[in-house]
Amino acid sequence: MNKLIVANWKMNPGTLKEAISLARKTGAIKKETGELVLCPPYPFLSGVGKVLQGAALGAQDASISDSGPYTGEVSPTMLKSLGVEYVILGHSERRREFGETDGLVNRKTLAALRTGLRVVLCVGESLEVRKRGISAARSFVRQQLLRCIRGVGKGGSSKRNLIVAYEPVWAISTSKNRKDETPEDTARMILFIKDTLGKQLRVSAPRVLYGGSVDEKDVCNFLSRSEVDGVLVGGASLRPGEFVQLTKDVFTGLCDTLKL
Ligand code: PGA
Repeated sequence: MNKLIVANWKMNPGTLKEAISLARKTGAIKKETGELVLCPPYPFLSGVGKVLQGAALGAQDASISDSGPYTGEVSPTMLKSLGVEYVILGHSERRREFGETDGLVNRKTLAALRTGLRVVLCVGESLEVRKRGISAARSFVRQQLLRCIRGVGKGGSSKRNLIVAYEPVWAISTSKNRKDETPEDTARMILFIKDTLGKQLRVSAPRVLYGGSVDEKDVCNFLSRSEVDGVLVGGASLRPGEFVQLTKDVFTGLCDTLKL
């Protein structure tokens, strides 16, 4: 299966002009070599979508419903009409800054899957939880995941379009006192997530990505592990030189040659 790279631009860059320039520099790949998704902020989706060459378009959030009295919200159908194929849901920044609960993320996940979007569902434990040990982290991630995927596969919400991103909150570049997650622990957690998804949804090969300060220097450390199906990249995706190098390394098979 091709490795998947998802670029989460978060609330960057500042203008449409800069967004288009970044997309021109980083969104050109040969489709046969791998899957690349650029996720700009909502107002730039349409403009960025027009200049992508080979990369797919993703959004960073979507609403719980397709229409209705939800001031300020953007529906999955609206996103699809702009050519969006992927949507990141449940990111830890949305949980922390905007109070998103597992229940809300679940409603968003079901709505997006019903519309035919591919969902990149983020899960991951905080530092406090991780300090209690790996088994506490596993049980936190399991619970979070199960709550967020409740009902997936029913009522037209395709389970095949569900991708999970394991992002330990303490490894994200913008977290205070961030620390590096090791590729070994990442691989173990991802295997655990796959096992949980397999049992819960009865899917045979669920895709699970890793995210947390991945850059061109360490991407192959994670992707040389066969358990890791791709990466969700924040900060480094805004630095064209680094990001192009990162995608090149992954898509030209460099990480595969290091397979562990
Ligand atoms: P980071 O962001 O690569 O800057 O740590 C990843 C994310 O928050 O999705």
